[in-house]
Amino acid sequence: PDKVMHKLVSLAKRRGFIFPSSEIYGGLSSCFDYGPLGSEMKRNIKELWWNAMTRRHQNIVGIDASIMMNPTVWEASGHVASFNDPMIDDRTTKRRYRADHLIENHIEKLRRDGKDADALRVQMTYEACGASEEPNRALYELIIDEGIKAPDTGSGDWTEVRQFNLMFQCNMGAVADSSGVVYLRPETAQGIFVNFHNVRESSRMKVPFGIAQIGKAFRNEIVKGNFIFRMVEFEQMEMQYFVKPGTQAEAFEAWREERYQWYTRQLGIRPEKLHWYKHDKLAHYADLAYDIKFEFPFGIEEIEGIHSRTDFDLSRHQEYSGKNMEYVDQVTNERFIPYVVETSAGCDRLFLAILSDAYSEDVVDGEERVVLKLAPKVAPVKAAVLPLMKKGGMGEAAMKLRDELAESFPVQYDDAASIGKRYRRQDEIGTPFCITVDHQSIEDGTVTVRFRDTAQQERIDMSQTAAFITAKMA
Ligand code: GAP
Repeated sequence: PDKVMHKLVSLAKRRGFIFPSSEIYGGLSSCFDYGPLGSEMKRNIKELWWNAMTRRHQNIVGIDASIMMNPTVWEASGHVASFNDPMIDDRTTKRRYRADHLIENHIEKLRRDGKDADALRVQMTYEACGASEEPNRALYELIIDEGIKAPDTGSGDWTEVRQFNLMFQCNMGAVADSSGVVYLRPETAQGIFVNFHNVRESSRMKVPFGIAQIGKAFRNEIVKGNFIFRMVEFEQMEMQYFVKPGTQAEAFEAWREERYQWYTRQLGIRPEKLHWYKHDKLAHYADLAYDIKFEFPFGIEEIEGIHSRTDFDLSRHQEYSGKNMEYVDQVTNERFIPYVVETSAGCDRLFLAILSDAYSEDVVDGEERVVLKLAPKVAPVKAAVLPLMKKGGMGEAAMKLRDELAESFPVQYDDAASIGKRYRRQDEIGTPFCITVDHQSIEDGTVTVRFRDTAQQERIDMSQTAAFITAKMA
């Protein structure tokens, strides 16, 4: 698995998908930049999501809310009080660890050594769920009693366990005291809840209806690693669907189905790589929750959460803002605070899932190659135009064709190196179609189209190239 990740990370950097952030200064932990191909591919993912989740639905509209919000929002949402991880510091190195993870790892190690860790696991689950009176104290005692040492240094000189809030704080305005504290949003959802009435009124929406949004979210994650899987700054694609209380289970099932189809049919992710996970332990706001998980090289991990959030958020905003959050049914005159079913996906995680699903190594024309088998809709470059040679009018004709195709989709022109080498370069970035302009093209106005996955070729009329590719991308 490490080897696969290593290959993905190095391909991503070498070909301009993803770079470490501020790399010339040594980077910044868990922060990344999308390069020329990465930003193109990420746009495609977001565009596909936006089309599927807003434009396709008569009753879903989009918004683009600000990242910073009135800080009371985060008191109402429960993030100030409980968006916490239990942390413990190694006094020797001042390094910080997640207390529950230290114990989890310890349990794993006991298991590997053939020792019985079941009792400890039960105790741990109980403590980590905050079921005990003083969960921090309980976690601390487990760590000390088990003699757990810091992973890197082997020191057992621990501080107390403290709750560490994952929200980033900044100061707004000239005064650097607590009166100016604002947070970078840890989820995009709250921008939707607080705009419930604005959107409903301005767009004349009737329950059931949805509000969708794509935007940055920030979490001061202590556990890092696995490339863009867990970042401190990342992008969410969320949709909140407002329904009449009592109908949420039905809406939940419908969204579960639709979201799964999106991954397999639209994005072309292999179904065997996707797994459903039902939450047994629910967040304070939820009455039902499933994750869609993906088989990453490093394990099966969440890419999207589908949550039945009840009326928790709107009720809390009603309580904290003093504004009525009820919906009045025009026909029956019933009043209620709508229930919410949310679909919440991470764009960067999905990017990594798509990349690792697409990565393959095979042999074509007797040569080994690396190929990204990306769905054409997701691929950053749709076609490459390659003159067999620059001379004989082939270079000019190819460049002219490139300019024409560029009106419709991202396209590259390449005349450097042998044709085989140029095919390999395109395979490696997932370009689904290579168009070759050869001697015959100059004579009869035809070109060859080479298909990435099979390496097979077909001759078509040059003037039909754009239409041919567009049809294949539908
Ligand atoms: N509004 C609900 C919510 O935010 P979540 O399960 O905390 O739910 C939803 O997050 C999705 O956001 C996750 O499934 C994941 O894809 C993405 N996500 C969460 N934390 C992330 C992080 N640190 N880095 C990258 N993506 C993250």
